[in-house]
Amino acid sequence: MCGIVAYSGSGDALPVILDGLKYLEYRGYDSAGVAILNDGRIETVRAVGKISALEQKLKKQTLKGRLGIGHTRWATHGHPSLENSHPHGTADGRIVAVHNGIIENFNVLKNQLLSEGIAFQSETDTEVLVALIGKYYAGDLEQAVRAALNEVTGTYALAVIARDRPDELVVAKKASPLCIGLGRGEVFAASDALAFIKHTNKAVYLKDGEIATLGPQGLVVKNLQGKKVSYKITELSLDPASIEKGEYPHYMLKEIYEQPRAVQDTLDGRISPQNDGALFAELEKHQEYLIGVNKIVIAACGTSWHAGLVAKYLLEKHARIPVEVDYAAEFRYRYPVLDEKTLVMTISQSGETADTIAAIGEAQALGARVLSIVNMPASTIARDSDMVVYTYAGREIGVASTKAFTTQLAVICLLTVYLGRLRSSMSEEYAAGMLQNLKRVPNEIAKIFGEVEHIKKIAGAFARHSNVLYLGRGVGFPIALEGALKLKEISYIHAEGYPAAEMKHGPIALIDENMPTVVLAFKGRRYEKILGNIMEVKARKGRLIAIASESNDDIDRVADEVIRIPDATESISAVLAVIPLQLLAYYIAVEKGCSVDQPRNLAKSVTVE
Ligand code: G6P
Repeated sequence: MCGIVAYSGSGDALPVILDGLKYLEYRGYDSAGVAILNDGRIETVRAVGKISALEQKLKKQTLKGRLGIGHTRWATHGHPSLENSHPHGTADGRIVAVHNGIIENFNVLKNQLLSEGIAFQSETDTEVLVALIGKYYAGDLEQAVRAALNEVTGTYALAVIARDRPDELVVAKKASPLCIGLGRGEVFAASDALAFIKHTNKAVYLKDGEIATLGPQGLVVKNLQGKKVSYKITELSLDPASIEKGEYPHYMLKEIYEQPRAVQDTLDGRISPQNDGALFAELEKHQEYLIGVNKIVIAACGTSWHAGLVAKYLLEKHARIPVEVDYAAEFRYRYPVLDEKTLVMTISQSGETADTIAAIGEAQALGARVLSIVNMPASTIARDSDMVVYTYAGREIGVASTKAFTTQLAVICLLTVYLGRLRSSMSEEYAAGMLQNLKRVPNEIAKIFGEVEHIKKIAGAFARHSNVLYLGRGVGFPIALEGALKLKEISYIHAEGYPAAEMKHGPIALIDENMPTVVLAFKGRRYEKILGNIMEVKARKGRLIAIASESNDDIDRVADEVIRIPDATESISAVLAVIPLQLLAYYIAVEKGCSVDQPRNLAKSVTVE
């Protein structure tokens, strides 16, 4: 949450920083600001709202200079006001900084600084940190930052400049992501390499507790004790073209349409040539451990947690391993019962979700091993886990997760076969059948796009509602949860997902002609039961949209609208059924004129607790 960008070089800093900020807007967009050093003065411009508001302001006020920092904010300490926007500076304007993270002891530090006569303009923890740096600054910026950070508890990705250090940029990191870009005659630092990938693919990922000074002398990295440490230059393979929206009006729609490719990339090379097994070279050396595991505990957040619920259904049914699924934030403080025979599985698109990272630490401290399903290589979760299985969704920029989810489901299906075969709980024939079906998924997803015009019409009719209920049974239940989450995230319509049978224990009281219900009614063991639940909704005059398999003809008689998915097994139907739910949420949000890619109050990567 919050995105920071910094630049030092021979070029004009402002356009590079502004462009970088736009790529980081997924991290928060409550306010934005830049500070540029020119002729011994640091000029700062800030605006409440999105980066476009900052750009408008900058049309009236040009900032020239070769050193600068920028920030896009997701508010933690203090509401989204101009005063609370970053960059923050010392009262004398000597030092200016941008920060992502939380300074937990900021109140203690603030009281101390207040007693020393320092005044504050904002409610933020960042201004306190900047004041502390200012207090220690006597010409050596890196030393002052280090002295301040040694008094701080909390998390940070920090970029600092000083009025009298025209070529120097000091950055530091602890538990919030920070990446340095090394170009020709210019250096960058950002919360995500996305911000500078157009300029260079040479990156250095700082480790926690490291401070880097970037300037004409190159890059010097030290630890918090002031000892020089080595660093590794990574060549990033991120294609700058892949982060553009192209012909699509929103990243979310582009990413929905990328799903056949993303799932295919995730499956490639992971199905044996004989079709009878899943291949995970990355797990080979852990096979003995995986055979001995007696429980899996999954910890994740948001959409990734829904993928975890799908995993519970598949792993318990097909691989016969008991599975618990926890919200990462609950898991980490719950005193979970784990031992060396427990496999903790985390699932994360970004690999940077603070609670999921903490869950890994907790699991390892209790003796469990951690296998993570991650989309972002070089992320903290990928680094901290004992085993990593990547999804190959590519960059996901829309805040509402789509292709990351379907690729997570693809990996979960593969892992089910892998563990099932490894532990001899799944026959060769069953594995072959499941893999055959899985291979069809990219094509089947593409077929569902044929329903788009129909979905748009339904969206037009349903956009006026304030509440929607989503129902599913079995593996359809987590998909109902995901459908409801997509709708509330981007259209601000209240939506709830429920196991269809549980409807009778509460939600049914809400159903009337003003509360539509979306039902997952695809083929499977529970289809007849779902039809029963549909009748219960209809009996209360509820409007009904069914996501149904092609050959389920009887559904037309009971549902008001039917969106078809290709016939498939129950598990594969669950993967397919999420596509119309994503499209439905998308077109309802568009119909309502909502900011699809940047829904209010949300951020793509939640890097605070
Ligand atoms: C945020 C995002 C969601 C995402 C969740 C977990 O809430 O808006 O789309 O599912 O974080 O993120 P992760 O990167 O760990 O999957």
